[in-house]
Amino acid sequence: KSDPRLQGISEAIRVVPHFPKQGIMFQDITTLLLDHKAFKDTVDIFVDRYRGMSVSVVAGVEARGFVFGPAIALAIGAKFVPLRKPRKLPGEVISEAYELEYGTDCLEIHVGAVQPGERAIVIDDLVATGGTLSAAIRLLERVGAEVIECACVIGVREVKVMAEELLDSVGSMASHF
Ligand code: PRP
Repeated sequence: KSDPRLQGISEAIRVVPHFPKQGIMFQDITTLLLDHKAFKDTVDIFVDRYRGMSVSVVAGVEARGFVFGPAIALAIGAKFVPLRKPRKLPGEVISEAYELEYGTDCLEIHVGAVQPGERAIVIDDLVATGGTLSAAIRLLERVGAEVIECACVIGVREVKVMAEELLDSVGSMASHF
């Protein structure tokens, strides 16, 4: 069952201990982007999963969902919709707040970017608490989209979770939030 591409992807992600603060094992996808094969394999795994599922919207979470989302959108014939941090989008927006370890943050979407009934997926580099993805799902549902699935490159509970396990776990997240 294990996809032979996963090991190379996992090895290309650098883990930086104690960044940005003590105790955090930072998962650095910039090293994955330097490795053409690992980067392409990562995008291809998502494309293999979502091609043929009538997805018309790939929503990417700022900032690192912007790295993977557009490549996936182009390959499956979907539009790319950025979900941005506050005060970045110039048009009319709706907002959803989510909890951080200390305080709250917010994601915004442009009103009119997605039409009611469109089938959407949400892409980010990493899921930790799931707070960010749950805000993304709420935004898309408020504009009438059907969120088919969320998918990330990395799941953190263990230090590194292979992309396949991750696809499974975040695949079921949409129904939990
Ligand atoms: C990271 C990561 C996800 C989010 C996951 O982004 O890229 O978007 O945290 O955490 P969660 O599952 O607990 O919500 P970060 O907040 O560091 O923002 P950035 O990408 O803009 O730096």
